[in-house]
Amino acid sequence: MSPTVRVVAHPNIALSKYWGKAKRDGNFPAVPSLSVTLSGMATRTTVRFVEGLADDQVSLGGTPMTAGLTKVTALLDTVRAAAGIQLRAEVETANDFPTGSGLASSASGFAALALASVRAAGLDWDATRVSGLARAASASAARSLFGGYVELPFGAEGARPVATKESFPLRVLVCVATEEAKKVASTEGMTTTAATSPYYAAWLEEAPRVHERLRSALLADDFSSVGALAESSALMMHASALAAGVVYVKGVTLDVLATVRELRAKGTEAYATMDAGPHVKVLVRPADAAKVHDVLVHVPGVLRMLTTEPGDPARVVDEEP
Ligand code: PMV
Repeated sequence: MSPTVRVVAHPNIALSKYWGKAKRDGNFPAVPSLSVTLSGMATRTTVRFVEGLADDQVSLGGTPMTAGLTKVTALLDTVRAAAGIQLRAEVETANDFPTGSGLASSASGFAALALASVRAAGLDWDATRVSGLARAASASAARSLFGGYVELPFGAEGARPVATKESFPLRVLVCVATEEAKKVASTEGMTTTAATSPYYAAWLEEAPRVHERLRSALLADDFSSVGALAESSALMMHASALAAGVVYVKGVTLDVLATVRELRAKGTEAYATMDAGPHVKVLVRPADAAKVHDVLVHVPGVLRMLTTEPGDPARVVDEEP
């Protein structure tokens, strides 16, 4: 039996979004992206390779996993091939936040799985290589291997850190709009957008420009520009998807967005971003977090709120021989 390795990884929220796949094998994004890894939400994953199993045994939150199992097995197959082992794995994973609903559970989940399985198999890979392994399963997961602010450049195998978590103080207020899993997985949403959206070409042209500007604003400690660019990246991504009939927003999403814009009009700097789900994540300076939280928590349809901040990389928390 291999060592039992326990890992913690956090989700990340893209400030400049990835949406769409490059035309090459291996799950490479069509555009660069830049994210912040978030504390306050976590995936905990344990992996061990054991004798006598016919298949990989994977449980999610205590129940056997069905959806997404192919991607898990593919990742484990890559690790087995690199380590020269045949043993199947026992994988236990749990999220302390809703799974598969646009809260980036695939990001933290595949980051945790990649790190735990690489270590359990005895491979001495650096974080960039582990990030590349995670990217092949879920491109956003590449970014959760690192803490703070992280970029996945166009065409890169793995992500790389851009700025430390301390360098750009931020609070991300997550307005939870549903506890349910989404109906259209992000890969399917991207494929439909690329195939049928009249705005996809415009997105491909604009996203790298927004990314570069956002990166510069982040490094210049320019909160207003980072917020404005993050909001416009999200709106452009959703516009391209909406035009293909891929609708992740709900009424509550638009109500939170309107409230954020009202707050801004009255002088409080808050900016909204949304991923492949109805939740709005609101970017504020730490000093404004409590005030903005108290307004958004009253928007009808907001089930609950999470206050998160830039967090740590994926890491091994326990290893038993
Ligand atoms: O990592 P995936 O393939 O599930 O794609 C997620 C893409 C978005 O979350 C919508 C945007 C991003 O850059 O994280």
